[in-house]
Formats: sequence, structure tokens, C-alpha cells
Amino acid sequence: MAKKKASRSVTKRKNQLPRVKRIGVLTSGGEGAGMNACVRAVTRYALRHGIEVMGIYRGYAGMMNEEIQPLTHRSVSGIINEGGTFLKTSRSAEFMTEDGQRRAVEVLKKFGIDALVVIGGEGSYQGAIRLERTWGIPCVGVPGTIDNDINGTDSTIGADTAVNVALDAIDKIRDTATSMERIFVVEVMGRNYGFIALKVAVTGGVEEVLLPGRKFDIYDICHDIVEGNLRGKVSWIIVVAEGAAKAVDIAAQIHDITGLETREVTLGHIQRGGRPTARDRMLATRLGAAAIDLLMSGKSGKSVGVRGEEIVVVDLETAVQPKVLNSEEIYALMKTLT
Ligand code: F6P
Repeated sequence: MAKKKASRSVTKRKNQLPRVKRIGVLTSGGEGAGMNACVRAVTRYALRHGIEVMGIYRGYAGMMNEEIQPLTHRSVSGIINEGGTFLKTSRSAEFMTEDGQRRAVEVLKKFGIDALVVIGGEGSYQGAIRLERTWGIPCVGVPGTIDNDINGTDSTIGADTAVNVALDAIDKIRDTATSMERIFVVEVMGRNYGFIALKVAVTGGVEEVLLPGRKFDIYDICHDIVEGNLRGKVSWIIVVAEGAAKAVDIAAQIHDITGLETREVTLGHIQRGGRPTARDRMLATRLGAAAIDLLMSGKSGKSVGVRGEEIVVVDLETAVQPKVLNSEEIYALMKTLT
């Protein structure tokens, strides 16, 4: 019995990180509003717990190029309300090579960085997985992307702000759509995940939404438009997720089939900008602190997230699995209300 107890405690110690003294924090991939709030929380929470913080600029590219500076309490003041990321960000193909990673690991050793907090989306998490599993660098991922396509969290940093930016644009488009009695096809971002599209479709009260992985028939849509037209419904807004179709193609098809005046708008990168919403600031702040708590408790290779009001933790590998959007109920409700 006593023997069993001893072996358990040895295993536990083996799986735990030695005390983390200096961390690196980076933002990587497409920025999302709230990343600054997260870096602020990571920095101040770590410093309060006696951990030094190094800011790694321009994501993994900056890591390989030694773009690293210490962060203090004051370096992160006045940024909680700012969009973008003051650490800058990038997507680095070089880092995904073995040579790139070797270089990055040498740099981390040179700067005495014991562990990393990686704030980003799927591509950034893939980088963290390589560093953790292949090179033994302890990493914690904080989900930061407007796409909300990371598993193990209800929401990612930047998604709520992006939805609100897109919604504001759609409200404005409705003004012109109704005034000029036109059909508008509006394309929103989200990569292969339809989160932004579904959210703005329902909350913007639009007539149709095209989502990745959800079949649609352009003739059915045109039939509805023409039928509505006969009843006097002359303006339409159709939201298209970028992973489902191109707004320009859908608009052209609708015009060709119905002969009605149609315009397309691609909202594009404005969805990544703007001041973070209160929701994104709260999420960013809580997850930043949670990442440090995790490292202090000796754990890494994980992604932090929220489920309801609870902080949850999943493996990085689980976080990057394809995320399923449960759209049926909300889509049906949206159609019922059009
Ligand atoms: O992942 C965030 C995102 O904005 C996606 O929604 C979009 O598909 C992509 O990045 C655009 O990437 P880039 O900024 O490289 O054009």
C-alpha cells in the first residue's frame, strides 16, 4: 500500500513543470479585438505572482528573429480598450518547418523563457503543439480569433466584437436596401465556420443565410424572392459565410435568375477591427489569468476556454479538431421569423 502511494507521487511530479520563472507571450495569426486586454491580463497576473514576462513581437516570425522585450506593469497600461494587438502579429510559413522551430527554440533558450502563452487561432495552436510535443517547450493556448472555430470554449477572443461590427454594417445596409428596394448579398468572414454568419443573420433579422456545410438551392432562394416580390416584399438581405460561397457569385446568380436589382458587399477585414466589446474584454481578461494559473499549477499543452461562466481546459490537440456549428434550431427560428 505504502509502495503504491510513493509511485503515484513520483508520477505526479514527473508530469508537472518545474516552477515557471519567465514566460513569453505572443499574439499570432489574424488578430481579434481583445487580444490587447489578454496580453495585459497575462502580464499583470504573471508579474503579481512573481513571474517575469517577455513580449514576443510579430508572433512566431518575431520569435525566430529575436523580437523580444520585457513587459512591465506599465507596458500594458491603456490598452484594455484598444483593438488590434500592440505585440503585432503574423502568419509564418517558416516557423512550420523544422529549421524554423529549431531556431525559435534556440531563441527561447537564449532569452531564458521557460514557457509560452500563445494567443491565437488554429494555425497558432498548431505551432504551439509542435513546440510543446516535439521540442518540449511548455505552451498554453488562449483562443483568439474572430472565427470562433476553436474547440473547448463557447467563444474566442474577438468573435463577439466581430459579430457586433458585422451586425452594425448589416443594419446600415438594411437602410439602403429598404430605401432603394434592392436585394443585398453580404459576405462575412469566419473561414470554414459559420459562427459570424449565423449570429448576424438572426440578430440582423435577415431573410437568408448560407453556411458552410449546409446545402442550399439557389433556385429555391430565387423562388422565395420572386414570391415575396409579388406580395410586395421588395428588399432582401442574404448573408453568406465566406466558407459557403462568394457574395459576388450569389448576387450574379440571383440577378440572372430573377432579373431583380442585386448588390453584393464583402465586409472583409473591418470585422477584425474596432474596440473590443465588454464581453470580449471580460473573456480576454479571464482567459489570460487562467493561462497563468495553469502554468503555475505545473500544467501545459492545454487550451483555456469558457463554458457558460466556468473556465475550462482542454488539450491543444482537442482544441484544433474541426468544430461543429449547431445551426439547425437557430436557422429554423430565423426562417420562421422572416
Ligand atoms: O482567421 C481570421 C480571418 O479573418 C478569417 O476569418 C479570414 O478567412 C482570414 O483570417 C483572412 O486572413 P488574412 O488576414 O490573411 O487575409
